[in-house]
Amino acid sequence: MTKIQHILVTGGAGYIGSHLVDALVARDYRVTVLDNLDPQVHRSGTWPSYANPRATYIQGDVRDRARLEALMLAADAVVHFAAAVGVGQSMYQVDRYVDVNTRGTALLLDILVNAKHHIQKVVVASSIGVYGEGAYRCATHGVVAPGIRAEAPLAARDWEQRCPSCGEHVASIPTPEDKALYRDNIYSMTKYHQEEMVLLIGKTYGIPAVAPRFFNVYGPRQSLSNPYAGVAAIWLSRLLNGRQPVVFEDGGQLRDFVSIHDVVRCLVLMIEQNGADFLPVNIGSGETVTILDIARLLTRLLGSDIEPQITQTGRRFDIRHNTADISRAQTTLGYAPSVSLEQGFTELIEWAKTTPDVAEDFFDRALNELSEKGLLVR
Ligand SMILES: NC(=O)c1ccc[n+]([C@@H]2O[C@H](COP(=O)([O-])OP(=O)(O)OC[C@H]3O[C@@H](n4cnc5c(N)ncnc54)[C@H](O)[C@@H]3O)[C@@H](O)[C@H]2O)c1
Ligand SMILES: [Zn+2]
Repeated sequence: MTKIQHILVTGGAGYIGSHLVDALVARDYRVTVLDNLDPQVHRSGTWPSYANPRATYIQGDVRDRARLEALMLAADAVVHFAAAVGVGQSMYQVDRYVDVNTRGTALLLDILVNAKHHIQKVVVASSIGVYGEGAYRCATHGVVAPGIRAEAPLAARDWEQRCPSCGEHVASIPTPEDKALYRDNIYSMTKYHQEEMVLLIGKTYGIPAVAPRFFNVYGPRQSLSNPYAGVAAIWLSRLLNGRQPVVFEDGGQLRDFVSIHDVVRCLVLMIEQNGADFLPVNIGSGETVTILDIARLLTRLLGSDIEPQITQTGRRFDIRHNTADISRAQTTLGYAPSVSLEQGFTELIEWAKTTPDVAEDFFDRALNELSEKGLLVR
């Protein structure tokens, strides 16, 4: 087997992909990006200003088989990040999400199985979403995996999860990769399709494949104008517009926010080492925070006195807690996250202040769409 020299990154003009492209170029890989400049992500319709001059950029859709095949034949490794990204939106754009994410990946695998290529590694972006709820511990029944919360307790503002066996409240614990999975939205289903298909084909044909399950990734270049993107970006965008961040439920939801720089370091390890081959691997910081903590951290770092608006209402498909058990990445790859929340969010804010993207805040429109579709708990 020859050394990996040339890496194809689909979705490489996007947020996570672009940071990885920079890291790969800096390590002297030859990098080709395939990206269709999805208008929801790239509103200018042009390559972003951060496009790396040492990488090759090809505008095209991953669902264009001939183009994808030609690029795969020229590469030694594929990082497949191109995707429609958004939980709420996937619940009313079902066809688009399944087509781009599931069928796009199916096409990639069809080429992998049928074309004469020399791909030595496939990395496919999976997500925290494949877990549905995180892992929990019941005082009586030990580790349990409750499903989506029922409507009645939510309507009664009883937010905490309950044990599937005894119905008592349960405590959140970090989620290991082998937790029972279930998906509660179309986007997460497609992420699971992608992961499961890639790992299966990889194993069957002996092509090393790995599926990073990203937790809440934050950092520069994150879309601030896409209301379907991550919560930290949405709040930051609101705050910079002088508006209150909207915090669903009581703000006590536990998450793992991981800096893009730690994520990229872990992805490079996945490409260069084989310890995590054929496995899904959590990428988080290993640090647990409530989303209200994050809203407050943002306001504090901004020196703002705007208080978060805590809605005491929720979205029907939301999970309560999910935090990362990162021991698999630590033991198989030697991954060691190094960016603190304080450092990482300071960097995000400094970057956000300089991006024109932040001028618009589409959150209210997105919230209205959810409300019209009956996806908010009343
Ligand atoms: N950001 C997170 O916290 C997070 C969490 C879990 C999983 N992920 C996954 O990581 C990957 C990258 O996410 P991101 O945050 O960088 O998203 P992003 O939207 O910034 O980047 C995705 C890129 O894919 C491109 N794209 C979309 N559809 C395409 C198509 N049909 N053909 C070619 N290119 C297409 C877009 O133009 C964009 O540049 C995605 O697969 C996403 O599902 C991200
Ligand atoms: Zn119990």
